[in-house]
Amino acid sequence: MKIGIFDSGLGGLVITKTFINILPEYDYLYLGDTAHLPYGEKTSGRILKYTLDSVKYLAEQNCRLIIIACNTATSVALRYIQQKFAPLCMPGVKVLGVVIPTAETAVSAGAKRIGVIATSATVASHIYAAELQKLDSSVVVKEVAAPQLVPLIEAGNFQNMNNVLKDYLSAFPEMDSLILGCTHYPLIKENCRRLLSDSVKVISQDELMGKKLADYLRRHPEIESDLTHNCSRRFCVTKINPEASRIAARLIPDIFMEEVVF
Ligand code: DGL
Repeated sequence: MKIGIFDSGLGGLVITKTFINILPEYDYLYLGDTAHLPYGEKTSGRILKYTLDSVKYLAEQNCRLIIIACNTATSVALRYIQQKFAPLCMPGVKVLGVVIPTAETAVSAGAKRIGVIATSATVASHIYAAELQKLDSSVVVKEVAAPQLVPLIEAGNFQNMNNVLKDYLSAFPEMDSLILGCTHYPLIKENCRRLLSDSVKVISQDELMGKKLADYLRRHPEIESDLTHNCSRRFCVTKINPEASRIAARLIPDIFMEEVVF
């Protein structure tokens, strides 16, 4: 059985790449819902529907473990999937998200005044504030929606990036840590680091999710033992377009993308 990775688009490839680097032996199936990207500015109802369709597809393709690598989908759908949908519609499939591992990493690094940039839907859910405060009730969290970033990254428009970023980052004058709460943002983590003072820790999911998955598999032998070790990789999207192919090739140079319909 495989490890499935789901994102609303291709940002999740950044995380997939770290999984493949750290845990190359497993079989991976990536699904990017490019037909419906972006999720971040959609209603919760739409995000939930698209996420359920996508994880169901991955479960039907023999994924034993599914990582929702999309912060927006994690914020809106993960709890419902874990508590209601998976036990009923795909028993035996474990579904994890990206928010808790990110919050754990921030708190264990000693973060106290935390800024979060994310999509509008993620910020509206306040999932980061809730999860961070569950781990340490003394942390102060400020979440800011950064709706201009995903379209700029998707369009490969990095010229205007710093001006737009500067604007968003000015909302956090006091922070000691910045969480990049969107799968696209690892692509601009160095821009953030350059714009912020050295005392601000930038927490980027591509630098933590690989370790978190390895740790999870060590702690869950009942899941690990169901996973096959053939080093296979399959990359699927719900809509191929030239822009998507260009971004994918930049992230994983020898990538072959298939379009799937479900
Ligand atoms: N993948 C989404 C996230 O991590 C960002 C892109 C989108 O808006 O769909 O929040």
